[in-house]
Amino acid sequence: MATKRFMTLPRHIMEGEKEHPEATGELSTILLQLGLAAKLISLEVNKAGLAEILGFTGDENVHGEKVKKLDIYAHEMLIKAMDHGGHFCVMASEEEEDIIHLPPNQKIGKYVLLFDPLDGSSNIDANISIGTIFSIYKRISQGNGPGTREDCLQPGYKQVAAGYVVYGSSTMLVYTSGHGHGVHGFTLDPAFGEFLLSHDGIKIPKQGRIYSLNEGNYFSWPQGLKNYIKYLQSNLFEGKPYQARYVGSMVADIHRTLLYGGIFIYPGDKRNLKGKLRLMYECNPMALLMEEAGGRATDGHSRILEIQPEALHERTPIYIGSEDDVLLVEKFLRDGADRY
Ligand code: AHG
Ligand code: MN
Ligand code: MN
Repeated sequence: MATKRFMTLPRHIMEGEKEHPEATGELSTILLQLGLAAKLISLEVNKAGLAEILGFTGDENVHGEKVKKLDIYAHEMLIKAMDHGGHFCVMASEEEEDIIHLPPNQKIGKYVLLFDPLDGSSNIDANISIGTIFSIYKRISQGNGPGTREDCLQPGYKQVAAGYVVYGSSTMLVYTSGHGHGVHGFTLDPAFGEFLLSHDGIKIPKQGRIYSLNEGNYFSWPQGLKNYIKYLQSNLFEGKPYQARYVGSMVADIHRTLLYGGIFIYPGDKRNLKGKLRLMYECNPMALLMEEAGGRATDGHSRILEIQPEALHERTPIYIGSEDDVLLVEKFLRDGADRY
């Protein structure tokens, strides 16, 4: 997977286009635009002037969660970066109740962009890794007019690209265009502001040794999940039990799972049967990446990518990571018969 060649994001995308003549080049332009937005958000996340944009706006988002200024900045930055260029017919953001139409004077394109502008926002003040997640579809509504809600409610297997940016010890952009084209990671070199290919063709280990979920919710979990976690803690794998790691930013936990293997879980529990994470903005894009990297992503029973969305902000339980680990927790859930 390690890459020696000096390969920038634009060059990698252009080379990828040559290999896939069916690609119109438009998707490449979209990915490059996303790279630009990522650089601008990264600047804001990392710059000394963080003080004036930290802290709560005092507002609440559609999910009733306190919104931090950086969420708003990232949300507005992405829209500004992506609403021209004529690529999209409609957008939707975790931070916006309804679908987002393009400005009236803009050319309407054939793509749909869904995004979580800032993931892990509760970690901002503690300088813990946060991220941006994006998901791209082709429109399915007829005509060349503005896109519709129907365009934004497609099952995840119809994504034409998905990825995330993680603003951590370095800023990395990880994306896939699906269809076996692989998962590729680019690290931002702040010296000259380019994303350089640092992880060419990421493949997740078939089984890992790390489990990742919020154990504070233990007493609300389904019995099968309790049995599974006790199994990981009480058995020896290569001489020791699984390790627990949980950042609390999905992008950081998924990034570590993708590179090191293991399993990330945000389960449904007796208080929230559908769990917390959003199907369209978090689970579908991460599921496409994980399956492309050879992993597995389900709601505990069925593939995330096959869920037919009903609502823009709907949530789903998610069990995602190394194939063997996800298959094993599914067995424990079946045996536990989802009893609480
Ligand atoms: P967001 O900041 O976009 O609302 O996402 C936060 C999510 C996700 O990043 C993370 O995995 C999860 O919240 C953590 O939830 P808990 O604090 O309940 O564990
Ligand atoms: Mn999120
Ligand atoms: Mn968010």
